[in-house]
Amino acid sequence: MDEESTIDVTTLTPRTVAVISALERSWGQGNVDALDAVLAPSYVRRGRRSRQSKEELKSSILDMRRAFPDLDMRVTRVVEGENDLALYWTSSGTLHDEYLGLPPTGRQYSVSGATFSHFEGDRIVEENVIYDRRGKYSSLGVPLSGSSTVEEPNAKTAVGIDVLRSMHRKMVTGVTVVAVDSDGEPRGLAVNAFSSVSLEPPLILVCVQKSSSTYSHLIAASHFSVSVLAADQLNVAKVFATKQERKFDQVAWHHGEHGVPLIDGAAAAMELELQDTLHASTHTIFIGRVRRITTTDAAPLVYTNGAFFDGAQLIEASESPA
Ligand SMILES: Cc1cc2nc3c(=O)[nH]c(=O)nc-3n(C[C@H](O)[C@H](O)[C@H](O)COP(=O)(O)O)c2cc1C
Repeated sequence: MDEESTIDVTTLTPRTVAVISALERSWGQGNVDALDAVLAPSYVRRGRRSRQSKEELKSSILDMRRAFPDLDMRVTRVVEGENDLALYWTSSGTLHDEYLGLPPTGRQYSVSGATFSHFEGDRIVEENVIYDRRGKYSSLGVPLSGSSTVEEPNAKTAVGIDVLRSMHRKMVTGVTVVAVDSDGEPRGLAVNAFSSVSLEPPLILVCVQKSSSTYSHLIAASHFSVSVLAADQLNVAKVFATKQERKFDQVAWHHGEHGVPLIDGAAAAMELELQDTLHASTHTIFIGRVRRITTTDAAPLVYTNGAFFDGAQLIEASESPA
């Protein structure tokens, strides 16, 4: 696409040259209207589970260029068919602005992929894109693990939200504060989606909504903490379950050995190293490796059926008479 491109455009059809030029001007320079010359009005672009119109593609290019101002995209191989075109490419950039919930870490990504285009006349009507999504996120510091992403909700299989909620209300959990130090400022939120993953290695997980204001700080951190609130810390739970500035000004806390904020008087607390993340639609699962634990005799705060309970008042269950 420029002097560093490995493609000899003189061997290509004018139609392919026009596509490569439009890609260079849109992805490389932000001139997204250059795509109008090569994409049909009915154009559809399909990813692994996404579908974009021409205008949606344009706005996602602009969004990427805002986040990655040095975005570079190069075509490395071209295969031409009668009405089809395969372009193999590499793309790279530096994350300078927030992108899909990721904070501007200054990290670089580099990813390769391929676009398979189908033409009607001189215009592309449909494209299928594949790329190394896992590699892209990994290089940005957000490795995807397991099956990478939970499927988006599907209208046919969706479970009613009220049924789902009533199921969750049957669960009994503790209440934790998940916290992180962000350039010297403590940030955190109330979380009950906490679980042990394994004892050896000592792994736990917490599940955090991407819309949380703590999220971008958490995903950029190397360490985070989980304080399991004590039965007398309902007020602390309420502070951290609310979106507000300077939550830590309202509670007693201290720094742990790994620099993370810990709530004073918690029933137990963990300092964790961020081991892995798993994107799950609106939420991200953070897997932490336990680096340090403190426990006390204090009873935990308990949450069930949308209400808080005193964990010291639990009555041991007995077997029902036969
Ligand atoms: C008992 C309880 C448990 C909660 N558990 C979670 C959770 O597991 N994950 C989550 O993302 N939010 C959870 N929330 C909601 C957040 O704490 C809440 O949205 C908070 O305002 C987020 O704060 P932030 O936007 O300042 O980070 C919970 C709230 C309550 C009251």
